[in-house]
Amino acid sequence: MIISSLVAMNRTLLIGKDNDLPWHLKDDLAHFKNYSMNKPIVMGRNTYESIGRPLPNRYNIVISTTFNKVDGAVVVNNLPDAIEAAKKYCIENNQDEIVIIGGAKIFALAKDMINKLVITWVEANELVGDVYYPSFSLENWVEQSQKPFKKNADNDYDFVIKEYLLKK
Ligand SMILES: NC(=O)c1ccc[n+]([C@@H]2O[C@H](COP(=O)([O-])OP(=O)(O)OC[C@H]3O[C@@H](n4cnc5c(N)ncnc54)[C@H](OP(=O)(O)O)[C@@H]3O)[C@@H](O)[C@H]2O)c1
Repeated sequence: MIISSLVAMNRTLLIGKDNDLPWHLKDDLAHFKNYSMNKPIVMGRNTYESIGRPLPNRYNIVISTTFNKVDGAVVVNNLPDAIEAAKKYCIENNQDEIVIIGGAKIFALAKDMINKLVITWVEANELVGDVYYPSFSLENWVEQSQKPFKKNADNDYDFVIKEYLLKK
């Protein structure tokens, strides 16, 4: 089973500011939608609130100790239950990938299970915010692909989307 981390960050590992994204990148949002489509997605309560609604055509799993119920999403209070629900969905729907979509707290919890990284590297290293991806090294990862995008009217910054697989 693939357990991926789908994330956009800059080189300082910044991922969030004021419970939102620190940038506006329309083409990255399209990539996020595309990549996660029809898959189970696992998120923390803050990320759920930041998005503001369950994402359509994906099996939304929210981890929270304070939310009991969300229409259109499954709510669990720990990561193992989230993974179990996602695996069950995969088996029933012929999927082979669970996508962890953040935020920092959930990326940290899932760190040791993640075997694929899908990272949007945003060329905005001067930005600061209040949520950072847990520190990691790319030493154990093999880059599989990269797709660069240029700053334009839709994208605040240049960025490149890279996929990595964990070394065997
Ligand atoms: N750039 C990106 O790709 C990206 C992706 C995702 C998010 N973000 C950004 O990241 C920020 C949100 O991240 P965050 O780290 O603040 O929050 P988060 O990880 O989305 O959610 C944290 C919440 O998850 C629940 N939780 C965390 N650990 C838990 C555990 N062990 N057991 C049970 N529940 C647990 C808790 O909810 P309760 O308090 O309800 O118990 C906790 O408050 C926002 O700024 C968002 O825009 C960026």
